[in-house]
Amino acid sequence: MKKTVLSGMRATGKLHLGNYFGAAINYVKMQEEDLNCFYFIADWHSLTTQHDSALLRKSVKEVLVNYLACGLDPEKSSIYVQSDVKEISELYLYLNMFAHKGELEKTASFKEKSRTKGQTINAGLLTYPVLMAADILIHRANLVPVGKDQEQHLEMTRTFANRFNHVYKTDFLPEPQAYNFGNELVKIMSLDGVGKMSKSDENERNAIFLDDEPEDIRKKIKKAKTGNTPETPNEEKSPAVEGLFSLMKLVSKEETYSFFNQEFNACSIRYGDFKGQLAEDIVKYFEPIREKIKQYSADDKYLLKVSQDGAEKARINAQASLKGMREIIGINYFK
Ligand code: ADP
Ligand code: TRP
Repeated sequence: MKKTVLSGMRATGKLHLGNYFGAAINYVKMQEEDLNCFYFIADWHSLTTQHDSALLRKSVKEVLVNYLACGLDPEKSSIYVQSDVKEISELYLYLNMFAHKGELEKTASFKEKSRTKGQTINAGLLTYPVLMAADILIHRANLVPVGKDQEQHLEMTRTFANRFNHVYKTDFLPEPQAYNFGNELVKIMSLDGVGKMSKSDENERNAIFLDDEPEDIRKKIKKAKTGNTPETPNEEKSPAVEGLFSLMKLVSKEETYSFFNQEFNACSIRYGDFKGQLAEDIVKYFEPIREKIKQYSADDKYLLKVSQDGAEKARINAQASLKGMREIIGINYFK
């Protein structure tokens, strides 16, 4: 039987290079394999942190446009908006009965948010990993292409699935695995070298977005943090410099990367030249995607069709899983 792939991104803004190299690039590669692919826009997840209706609308459209521009093909993958598949919310309810309060409180993303919000943190944030597990298990997905930051959530999905299976003495739910085409999960650093590149970084100049214009890319890279030039041969790179080098590895020719790497190791690197080259290679790499973003953004009719067709396909699969779950749980009275 074909394996099932599921992944999604929160509708909280435009995609950046971290989303692309950490996740979207794998989505696209996987749809070319003999796999059953589902990709969605996590609009319910956005409600855990933002309640601005106009922004939500805008973000959902941006994520869909970005997906298509990156190469997701509605003929090959089911592309849908989470809230169009209500079956997910029913599964979320069941899975909540298999999630322990203690383990939810220990999740890194929850701990980080509760530090700033204290007792007023909403319960949706506490149960965020349960909703994510429902997204995955509703399709009984085996493979989940995500960046490294999602590993813990995936581990929790496996825990809930195993608990359900154990309690009901079944093997209905599979153990989904995080997936990356390279061997390691990718983490693209923020341009200031502190933490990962993120949509929710306070300074949005620390991220490069897929639709950034060439001039903006050049300016952002020019301002990216590097620090002092190396003084001892082969010294360890700072996280910020390492981050820029790993971007270069992804967007530039191999010989360009090796050239600057040798220059660094020989302490003769000129950061101005290095960044100039990196910026040009990013500009070139994303040119076709930038063009497609413009094209799809202007075509609401097509976007509506893609999301309706995708939801239809996702619902069929989701209903089949839910039917099985209901039977296992015993929700089939008076028949
Ligand atoms: P953000 O943290 O920017 O809000 P999301 O949480 O919506 O992004 O992430 C969507 C997908 O992109 C996830 O699979 C996540 O692992 C991946 N991702 C996000 N940021 C990065 C990054 N800096 N490097 C690698 N992958 C990332
Ligand atoms: N939590 C993911 C993120 O922040 C988004 C997400 C929600 C997701 N549900 C998912 C990713 C299911 C993969 C599978 O990026």
